[in-house]
Amino acid sequence: MTSITASHAADLVAALLFILSLAGLSQHRTSRAGVGYGIAGMALALVATVVLAAQSITAGAVALIVVAMALGGAIGLWRARRVEMTQMPELIAVLHSFVGLAAVLVGWNSYLEVESHGSAQTRIGTDLLGIHHAEVFIGIFIGAVTFTGSIVAFLKLSGRIASRPLTLPGKNALNLGALGAFAVLTVWFTVSPDLALMTAVTVLALALGWHLVASIGGGDMPVVVSMLNSYSGWAAAAAGFLLDNNLLIVTGALVGSSGAYLSYIMCKAMNRSFLSVIAGGFGIEAPSSGDEEQGEHREVRAGEVAELLARARSVVITPGYGMAVAQAQHPVAELTRRLRGRGVEVRFGVHPVAGRLPGHMNVLLAEAKVPYDIVLEMDEINDDFAGTSVVLVIGANDTVNPAATEDPASPIAGMPVLRVWEAEHVVVFKRSMASGYAGVQNPLFFRENSSMLFGDAKQSVEEILQALGGGGGASDPAAHQTAAAG
Ligand code: TAP
Repeated sequence: MTSITASHAADLVAALLFILSLAGLSQHRTSRAGVGYGIAGMALALVATVVLAAQSITAGAVALIVVAMALGGAIGLWRARRVEMTQMPELIAVLHSFVGLAAVLVGWNSYLEVESHGSAQTRIGTDLLGIHHAEVFIGIFIGAVTFTGSIVAFLKLSGRIASRPLTLPGKNALNLGALGAFAVLTVWFTVSPDLALMTAVTVLALALGWHLVASIGGGDMPVVVSMLNSYSGWAAAAAGFLLDNNLLIVTGALVGSSGAYLSYIMCKAMNRSFLSVIAGGFGIEAPSSGDEEQGEHREVRAGEVAELLARARSVVITPGYGMAVAQAQHPVAELTRRLRGRGVEVRFGVHPVAGRLPGHMNVLLAEAKVPYDIVLEMDEINDDFAGTSVVLVIGANDTVNPAATEDPASPIAGMPVLRVWEAEHVVVFKRSMASGYAGVQNPLFFRENSSMLFGDAKQSVEEILQALGGGGGASDPAAHQTAAAG
């Protein structure tokens, strides 16, 4: 009895720590504390759950749980230490798939337990058996959709399969049909819980999860990742009902609702319909590929860019995924310092989905000690491009693509972008003419006022620094250490 009360108290404290964690993570300055609260909450929840479970299971079973936790913890630590920042969304997608799979297994286990022992020998009374069956069915459905959806997201994000949307004929009817079939099967299962129905709902949900995410194009993947985050929360909550674990229900609901809200905010930022994205691109017709030949592009060398910058009044840098790949943030920060030292106004324009996860660019720039006050969001900088001398597009592509505003047939039509082409000169740093994540050609590269500086972004910026002169370049290891410290 005492241990149950203690366990309830621990659940309550852990739930509060999770809420504090979410609050902390919502702001730059408090995010470190937010992570700390999350770790403390999860550690407390794990210990409380194992201690409570130890009252009713054998010592051998407790030992197995501890071994599983140690193994899982070691693998998690090893992966988290090795993962590149640019691979973070893939890792998150894989972790969501684990939550989905766990919910499916919990559902099956709960069904088989009742079937083999009868409801009398489990915690479920006969009166509640119908509700239990519905819980099992819904939990398995949400878990299986999350499982395959997250696997497709992982495959797309890691480039193992193409990011363009799958457009099966009648895809909307397929999705709606699957939802209708699920509703019918749920009612049927609560009346006669049959193994065949369990198998049918599992297969149906696995196929639906796969199809929902496969139908969404690369440009909308950020929303998909946060949407799967939300689904994984609901899957965990469903597992919490089956395991009679209040903390899992509360935590799942926190993850589910915060993930849904994040998806909504991202949809607004990208001018996408929330309902359309969560329904697997519902109502979006097959777009044109947008990769037609657009004309001639012009190349420049680092020395010419240095001359351009030396004459500039104002410079805006718009970083993207390529800056993260090249790890060019330190030389970019050094270039900023040098230009500001010469009296040039330098600012950054950060698109909400630049890179591969929300806030990716802000983290890199903060790491390189670029002052916060010159790092502006898209809406804050977009009207200033027309009065800007030079824009340096460093490893960005989709986020500066004019087709989003000018070509209604483009796959990224309607997505707000940084209007860099309105500046006097635009220099695009990339390695080739390849398209960006959404797989769409970029007409910016062929504009009169644009030039391409080909090569690895870090190397290109370092060459510009050398051409500019003034010493203390970012290639100097001491400069790196100073920038990285703290
Ligand atoms: P992208 O459109 O993906 O373009 C990045 C560009 O960087 C590429 O065109 C690539 O061209 C260049 N690049 C790669 N490595 C480079 C290197 N070492 N040096 C120089 N350039 C390099 O990036 P973006 O503008 O940041 O847009 C983000 C895209 O990712 C959007 O489509 C967004 O929807 C999607 N996405 C975002 C998120 C979140 S939440 N932020 C999550 C998933 C997906 P080369 O290959 O020719 O060098």
